Amino acid sequence: MANPLIKITNIKRDFVLGNEIVYVLKGIDLEINKGEYVALMGPSGSGKSTLMNLLGCLDTPTSGHYVLNGKDVSKMKDDELAEIRNKEIGFVFQTFNLLPRTTALDNVALPMIYAGYSKSERSARAIEVLKQVNLADRMDHQPNQLSGGQRQRVAIARALVNKPSIILADEPTGNLDSKTSVEIMKLFSDIHAQGNTVILVTHEEDIAAYAHRVIRLRDGIIESDTTK
Ligand SMILES: Nc1ncnc2c1ncn2[C@@H]1O[C@H](COP(=O)(O)OP(=O)(O)OP(=O)(O)O)[C@@H](O)[C@H]1O
Ligand SMILES: [Mg+2]
Repeated sequence: MANPLIKITNIKRDFVLGNEIVYVLKGIDLEINKGEYVALMGPSGSGKSTLMNLLGCLDTPTSGHYVLNGKDVSKMKDDELAEIRNKEIGFVFQTFNLLPRTTALDNVALPMIYAGYSKSERSARAIEVLKQVNLADRMDHQPNQLSGGQRQRVAIARALVNKPSIILADEPTGNLDSKTSVEIMKLFSDIHAQGNTVILVTHEEDIAAYAHRVIRLRDGIIESDTTK
């Protein structure tokens, strides 16, 4: 396709640890189109989270290019990256990463503060996405008053609130039992069906089976890339 949503060219990422250099990503080329549903797999330490952090503009590569939605983000400064991140990326983490002592509604509305919406706009949109994840009846609950699956729904609603181009999820079912995992994966399928681009990391083949494309990393390079 002429204009992929994500175009990564020969991305490398290494880390300096004392007087040693750790080579983590060793030259990744990748294109992902709008509307794809991708699972990223591979052994522990193969570089999945490092790649997700780059895709999500939480980090920049040591070398190579990353063009997201037509913009070269590989050389951007922190403040520009933060703006792109807030607008284009929705993150979901294994450990939910919700603010404690803060209601589901306020957790979900939070990213809209940085995007400059008024309080009433923020609440209206947060209610809309909480309904979308079937949590309309838990809006006033704080994270410690919710189950793991419900917490992850709040986190997914928060990821969706600014209508990002991409939803990135790093082992979103890693802390959930298998029944709850299935519910969360159904939700990701719905989100994908509504036109969102979804990229998730998982260790489990049955979770990866929800995606339409499976990319396997090994030792910092792409070992295989299979589309159903
Ligand atoms: N900030 C850092 N400094 C030094 N080394 C790092 C840093 N971040 C990651 N690494 C190294 O990069 C390698 C890949 O880490 P990464 O977290 O991307 O793996 P992963 O594929 O997500 O593994 P897991 O399945 O266990 O989550 C590891 O060897 C790790 O030690
Ligand atoms: Mg990881």
